[in-house]
Amino acid sequence: MYQYKISSIPEEGCKSLDIDRGNHVARVMVLRQGDTILCYHNICPHTGTNLDWMPDQFLNASMTFIQCATHGALFRIEDGYCVSGPCAGQSLFPVEVKVEGDMFEIKLK
Ligand code: FES
Repeated sequence: MYQYKISSIPEEGCKSLDIDRGNHVARVMVLRQGDTILCYHNICPHTGTNLDWMPDQFLNASMTFIQCATHGALFRIEDGYCVSGPCAGQSLFPVEVKVEGDMFEIKLK
């Protein structure tokens, strides 16, 4: 189980997590919008590269979209849908998250 405190994610912010799965490391991004926690694989659907330009840096300057560091694609925070860029119309790969009290659990398949 991969459980974390909600308070470990900055409010209205995001964090990258590398989760050791034994035979590989899953790289995910976790976003917090108030009490809502969202999670996606840290993989751009355009080329498969990481989205962040620095650790924990995933959002555009106005903090309104997830922005890929490589070619600038913009993804909606709430569902990972790409609204602009070379992979427009595609989506980030979601990761299931379960929130319980002040903790959240990442459910990788
Ligand atoms: S690698 Fe993300 S937009 Fe090209």
